[in-house]
Order: sequence, then C-alpha cells, then structure tokens
Amino acid sequence: MFAEAMARLPSHPAPTLLEEFEQRQDRLTSQFRHDDVFVLASPPHAVHSNDVEYPYRTSSDLIYLTGWTEAESVFVLRHEDGRWVSSLFVQPKDTLKEIWEGRRPGVEGALSSYAVNEAYGNNELEDQLSKWLTNARRVFHRGGVNHHIDGLIETSVQRRDRARQHFGTGPVAVEDPSGLLAELRLRKSASEIEQMVYASKVASVAHELAMRHSREGVTEYQLQSVIEGFFSYAGTSGWSYPSIVGCGENATILHYKTNQDVCGLDEVILIDAGAEFRGYASDITRSWPISGKFTDAQREIYEVVLEAQLAAIEACQVGNLYTAPHDAARTVLAEGLIRLGVISQSVEDALDMGTGELKRWYMHNTSHWIGLDVHDAGVYKPGGQPRTLEPGMCLTVEPGLYFGAWRPDVDCPERYANIGIRIEDDVLITSDGPIVLTDDCPKSIEDIERIVGKDLR
Ligand code: GLY
Ligand code: MN
Ligand code: MN
Repeated sequence: MFAEAMARLPSHPAPTLLEEFEQRQDRLTSQFRHDDVFVLASPPHAVHSNDVEYPYRTSSDLIYLTGWTEAESVFVLRHEDGRWVSSLFVQPKDTLKEIWEGRRPGVEGALSSYAVNEAYGNNELEDQLSKWLTNARRVFHRGGVNHHIDGLIETSVQRRDRARQHFGTGPVAVEDPSGLLAELRLRKSASEIEQMVYASKVASVAHELAMRHSREGVTEYQLQSVIEGFFSYAGTSGWSYPSIVGCGENATILHYKTNQDVCGLDEVILIDAGAEFRGYASDITRSWPISGKFTDAQREIYEVVLEAQLAAIEACQVGNLYTAPHDAARTVLAEGLIRLGVISQSVEDALDMGTGELKRWYMHNTSHWIGLDVHDAGVYKPGGQPRTLEPGMCLTVEPGLYFGAWRPDVDCPERYANIGIRIEDDVLITSDGPIVLTDDCPKSIEDIERIVGKDLR
C-alpha cells in the first residue's frame, strides 16, 4: 500500500563519516584542559510494564559524538601521552544473551566501525574510570541521566579524597558538559542536514497520505496509523515525538495525544507528526478539512495562519534575531484577527503580552531548534539576549490559531468554534535565505483541496 508513495522519496543518505565524529570530538576537547576527563553515559532502558521495555533510544549527545546507539554504554575522553584518547565501554559479546536479545557489536564492533581509539567491555568501567580520574582535576559529566554511572563517579571522586590530601591530585569539580555540547549541536553539518532532509521528506509524504486517507468517519488513530506506518515503511526508526492527531475540538488542544475520536465531515483535523531518521527529527503540522473543502470560516482562519507562517519563514534570515519569526507571525496573526473582527484592539495592543487579545488564540512560541532532539539543544538567549541566526541552524516555524469552544476562560467566536489550525515546517538557515526542509508537504489551500480524500495515483 505504501509502495507508490516510496517512489517519491530519495534513497537513504550516506551515514555520517567516522572522520566527522572525530572532528566533533576534537571540537569538544579543544575546549578542555588536559587534566579534564569527559564521561558520557547512555541512559538506562525505560520499562513499559513488568519485563517489557520501550524501544531503546540512547542520548542525543552520544549519537552526536559517536553514532553509537547501543544501551549500557559509556563514552570517555581523557588526555594521555600528549593526545586526547576516546574510549567506549560497551556490552561485551555474549552468545547466550545474543540468542535471546539480538547480536551485539561488542568491543570488536565498536573498535572497527566507530570513531573511538579504545573499546572495553562495560564490566571494566569502574576500574578504568577510577584510574583515569586519579589525576583529573575536573570531570565533565551530566548527572541524573544514569544513576549507576553517577554513583561510580561519585565514588571515584570520594576515593580520591585521600590522594588529594597527600599529593594534591584528584578531581575537585564535576561539571555538566551539556552547554558545550548544545553549542556544537546548534549548527548542523552537511551530513546532519542530509539526515534531516530524509526525515523531513518521509514526514511530508506521510502527511500527504493521511490527507488522502481522510474522509467522514475515519478515526484519529487510523490517520495516525497511516502516518506512523509510513514512517516505518520508509526505514526511519518511527516518530520523533508522539503523534498529535486531533479533529474538531481536539485540534484546539496543543499537545493532544489521545487520538481516539471519529472525524466528522464538517471538522478540521490537525496532525502534528514527525519521523526520526538516524536520530534526527522532523516536525510537521498540517491542518485540513475532513470534507476536502474548506468552509468559508475554516478558510478565513487558514489563510491568516498561512500568511503568518510565510512571513515567519521569510524572517528566518542570517543576522536576524531568533525571535524575528515569532514577531513576524504574531503581527500577521493580530492583523488577521482584527480584520476578521475577532480582536477589537489595535495591532500594538493586541500584541501586548499582558493585556493583548492575541494570546487567547495563539498561546505558544513560533519556533524551536530542531535536530537530534525535536526540541533541540541550544540556548535561545545566551546572556539574556536573543541569539542571532547563523547558517546551519535549524528551527521550526509553527504559528497557529485555536478556537476551543469548550474553553471556560474565553468567549469563543461562534463562527470559528472548534477550528484549530497550525502550520509547521522545519527551516534551515543559510546565507542564501531560508530553506524549508519540509517543503514537499502540501500546504496551500489549492493543494490541500486537490489531495484530501483522493487516493494516491
Ligand atoms: N511537536 C511538538 C512541537 O511542535 O513542538
Ligand atoms: Mn514543533
Ligand atoms: Mn510539531
């Protein structure tokens, strides 16, 4: 059923080269002192129920620095004999375990196919770490991810207390490296962009398939299954965040995830769903009438949101503040709602975050960074000042208007009752202007009306 849709996709991009992982590690260690040690642990498995675990997803930082995705692993960087040495502690090969749980790359696989100088079985971690921390002054380690590793580091640091007193050696500080890694991850390389383009194209086609599958009586979960089924069919690891599939008043709930209702003919459906490919996220929202034809009221709101989204994308220029897309979107939304008679304030008053009426109908931000995390790493306001956009940064642009007639806190205009529209694309900042990675996903009213309810031919 998905074979024709697959023809629209390019083949999988090449994986990131080992040299690039080495360069990322070099960029990190160039900020360290030689007596620093960096420790990055994989998070533990999450339990679904009893002895069933959720599919494993390692930390984005570990993917960024090594590409390694196996559980129960720890990556360490230390300086020794005049150079930085990278080590990966992994689950050792174990035939009995592999019969039950699947093949393991093991120490040999880690050494041969990943950008590390050394690999060890994870049973050796405690001894090695204790040794390496002997002369370290500072340990870079993010606490709270893996309590077992937190304990090991704490014990190692405590054990050094005596040595510190006698010889003045041993770690005196444990620092969180997340900020350093976030700064590196904020600007995407060509290879990272290739992975994100594939995740974006898969999600774009998936949304189009859901549009085509929309008809009166279809359920939210059936549309979800079309989208997520295609994510798998296209060779991604699945969703990059739980899919939001809401029709009617559910479209006015920003992070609705119940996805259990039947779609009515006169309703708008809002789907916010993205795929993950080699760890990289896409994040798309589209909203369309189940009937395949916008009513006048639905069209009025859709046009305002689309105009706001296009203005916000246009504001994604090198040198603009990261708040520029949000400001552009809010202005167009306020102007639109004044034109439609929903807001009776001036544009300036409507935009006021205290007394302005816009925030009744548009209550979230327009953008977030996107990359290995859907809400990706990177400080928005370093030192309290909004960051300036640079080539290689990726962000979403996702304005919306939500008229929840169920809300007791506002008087919803009857004409727009339970219309929820959000339009979200993923944008790459370049010196030649913004590139919309999710541009294959239908967005214009004409395209949506041509596609909704029509089988793929
Ligand atoms: N899908 C969550 C978001 O759009 O931020
Ligand atoms: Mn988003
Ligand atoms: Mn989204």
